[in-house]
Amino acid sequence: MKIFKIAVTAASGNLGSAIINRLKQEIGKDNVTGIARTPVKAKSLGVEIRKGDYNSKEDFLIALKDIDTLLLVSGMDHPEKRIQQHRNIIEAAKESGIKKIVYTSIKGAKEGNDFSPVVASNRQTEEDIKNSGLQWAIGRNGIYIEPDLEYIDIYKKEGGIINSAADGKCGYTSREELAYAYFKLLTDDNLNGKTYDLYGEPITQIQLTAAINKAFNLHLKYKSIPFVEYTKERKAALGDFLGTIIGGIYEGIRTGKFDGKSDFYEVAKRPHKSVNDMINEFLKNNSLLSN
Ligand SMILES: NC(=O)c1ccc[n+]([C@@H]2O[C@H](COP(=O)([O-])OP(=O)(O)OC[C@H]3O[C@@H](n4cnc5c(N)ncnc54)[C@H](OP(=O)(O)O)[C@@H]3O)[C@@H](O)[C@H]2O)c1
Repeated sequence: MKIFKIAVTAASGNLGSAIINRLKQEIGKDNVTGIARTPVKAKSLGVEIRKGDYNSKEDFLIALKDIDTLLLVSGMDHPEKRIQQHRNIIEAAKESGIKKIVYTSIKGAKEGNDFSPVVASNRQTEEDIKNSGLQWAIGRNGIYIEPDLEYIDIYKKEGGIINSAADGKCGYTSREELAYAYFKLLTDDNLNGKTYDLYGEPITQIQLTAAINKAFNLHLKYKSIPFVEYTKERKAALGDFLGTIIGGIYEGIRTGKFDGKSDFYEVAKRPHKSVNDMINEFLKNNSLLSN
């Protein structure tokens, strides 16, 4: 495998740090650079960390010096701001002589629910990358499983998993599984020039609840409530911006927008982990952390 110097943005975040840890294992720490808005938060990763705020093209013109391949983690800001933030980085990449960009996009519908503005902004960045003239590969991530597992105490308190997904199927993934797929997309040039859906076998909320019950030894029930009721509750708990997005995601699940064939095998050359295996891995990693 030919190794180039790879930089990963949002290095202080959960996905960015998982990708950096995977790259360290696979290609060695000297070939990996993290870029973080708040560099001190990414210091413990043990790779070179440079400063990069998505609002600053100037930051990236400096941060991308001597880098060959860039992994751009999708931003967290309001959708209307994200497009320009991502453009700052794409422009800086072009001007810095970057050869290839890999982008972590999202599965979902670009119109029709309250998550669609986020999806639409990601689709625009996909287009901007394709039009950049650089080599590229794009992953469309499924829904992370970790937030459901971090919510377990609330589910226990409520006696079940309550949302508006009804019997819609959702392709879940984990940041560990995505990190493996992105390592492949960054280092295997045979995967260039394509967009890949990245998640495991899509499951219903009843199947998710059963998997959680098995791993945590619980007896939670799944209850579906109407979209309006669920979104109102999420907005009260998380604020308007995030509550609206979460409501939109579950409406997307209900209407099949997170279902479909995954391309994980084509990228990773192995099957995606099952939901049971992802939950067990989460438990193992978290018990190691608390020891
Ligand atoms: N598939 C899913 O289920 C799902 C769920 C949630 C989010 N997402 C998307 O996936 C991305 C990565 O997820 P994650 O789990 O790694 O999120 P996370 O742990 O919350 O990390 C977000 C990262 O974005 C960085 N960031 C935010 N604004 C920035 C800016 N202006 N400039 C530079 N960095 C900035 C944060 O830096 P600081 O440490 O400085 O704050 C942090 O490193 C998210 O950004 C979002 O687009 C996907």
